Amino acid sequence: MKLCMIGTGYVGLVSGTCFADIGNQVICVDKNLDKINKLKSGISPIYEPGLNELIKKNYLSKRLSFSSDINQAINSSDIIFICVGTPTKKGSINVDLSYVFKCCKEILKKTKKKKILVMKSTVPVGTGDEIEKILKKKKKLFTVISNPEFLREGEAIRDFRYPDRIVIGSNEKRAFNTMKKLYSPLISKGSKFFTTSRRGAELIKYASNAFLATKITFINELANLCEKTGINVEHISLGMGSDNRIGGRFLRAGPAYGGSCFPKDTKGLVSTADKYKINLSLVKSVIKSNFDRVNLLTYRIHKILGSSLKNKKISFLGVTFKPNTDDMRDSTSLQMIPYLCKKGALVNYYDPSGEKREFKKIKNCFFKNNINDNCNNADLIILLTEWDEFKSIDFKKVVKNKNFKLYDLRNLYNPEEMRRNKIRYFSVGRPNTN
Ligand SMILES: NC(=O)c1ccc[n+]([C@@H]2O[C@H](COP(=O)([O-])OP(=O)(O)OC[C@H]3O[C@@H](n4cnc5c(N)ncnc54)[C@H](O)[C@@H]3O)[C@@H](O)[C@H]2O)c1
Repeated sequence: MKLCMIGTGYVGLVSGTCFADIGNQVICVDKNLDKINKLKSGISPIYEPGLNELIKKNYLSKRLSFSSDINQAINSSDIIFICVGTPTKKGSINVDLSYVFKCCKEILKKTKKKKILVMKSTVPVGTGDEIEKILKKKKKLFTVISNPEFLREGEAIRDFRYPDRIVIGSNEKRAFNTMKKLYSPLISKGSKFFTTSRRGAELIKYASNAFLATKITFINELANLCEKTGINVEHISLGMGSDNRIGGRFLRAGPAYGGSCFPKDTKGLVSTADKYKINLSLVKSVIKSNFDRVNLLTYRIHKILGSSLKNKKISFLGVTFKPNTDDMRDSTSLQMIPYLCKKGALVNYYDPSGEKREFKKIKNCFFKNNINDNCNNADLIILLTEWDEFKSIDFKKVVKNKNFKLYDLRNLYNPEEMRRNKIRYFSVGRPNTN
């Protein structure tokens, strides 16, 4: 099939490349010329394991191409996927749909023959209806359907190839059949193909993310209780998660949830519910609790280091919101590092995905190229992101300051081993943390 992905970010680039890899002809379009030029010269603008190789393979086989010319891309495709960002509007909890609507207006101008328009971006209930209104001048040319994306950064290729479910929301049978054909290579490997109304599909995406955010927040709050009661939160996760009705995933205590989806989608869901005068009090509490968590963890840093942070050397291991991605959106580090620097701390950080523009202008914040340079003078090391290369650091060898402390926000290390090595170690929701 001939496909066009509008928006070549984490979702558009990964799914476009994977669609090409299962035999489709795909054009990835982006308004950002820099991205398109990089892609044409064989460089992925994002860090995602395995993606570079897959792009090269499909680009060379001419199944995958890149363009900033939306006109040509639209007219040579039968199915158009909208994969642009849907961030939170500044200063509110509402979803900023301006990229989506702008995109639809461009499509309206350029389309000459019948297309299926697929919303892959995460959009609030009713957005498909709004889009139909925009397209009403050429109504007969478009079928607007919802096909929310569930891939996780860091595991995106695997998630595309083996999704738990493929959700298609439409009110037209023909569109279902076309989408079923497109996804048939994944369905034949066992992925569930689930059809519902367009509004239903839009809500499934928000509901899923809000539920996962709730699980994380729940275990984070329990971790606080565990710290006060001398209980190991990991035993609670295991004991609860072994119940099939609950499941163990997303029950690991750690920092506040972050990333490009959970923070904005929990807010987006609440704002939709507000519009319909429905009080989603549970999701509202989750948002508040997650916000408070960053403050709580910063307070703990104060406690670990003593009241003043002036000239304290703090080294971060990892700053992205999770491993195997370069995505910084809503990472806990974005709140923590500026705060610590403001209080006079000298902050180093190392992240395997490289230096971050977000910290370039912050006084007293320095990127280091490797674990050793990052940590050797530290008073406090904060493990924020559990990249594989952090799993087996010999801290006693790496850090010169013999009085250093280690704050493990992902419970990556074994407290017993830390005790044996006489490392002053703090983690999340485990008895040794205070
Ligand atoms: N990142 C994830 O893990 C993930 C997972 C599932 C769903 N989603 C959803 O998918 C959507 C996209 O997310 P993302 O992380 O890929 O965003 P992103 O910011 O990485 O990419 C969006 C891209 O769209 C481009 N763009 C914006 N307007 C355009 C236009 N008019 N024409 C052409 N290109 C345009 C931007 O330049 C950018 O490259 C969001 O709604 C998000 O909630 C994201």
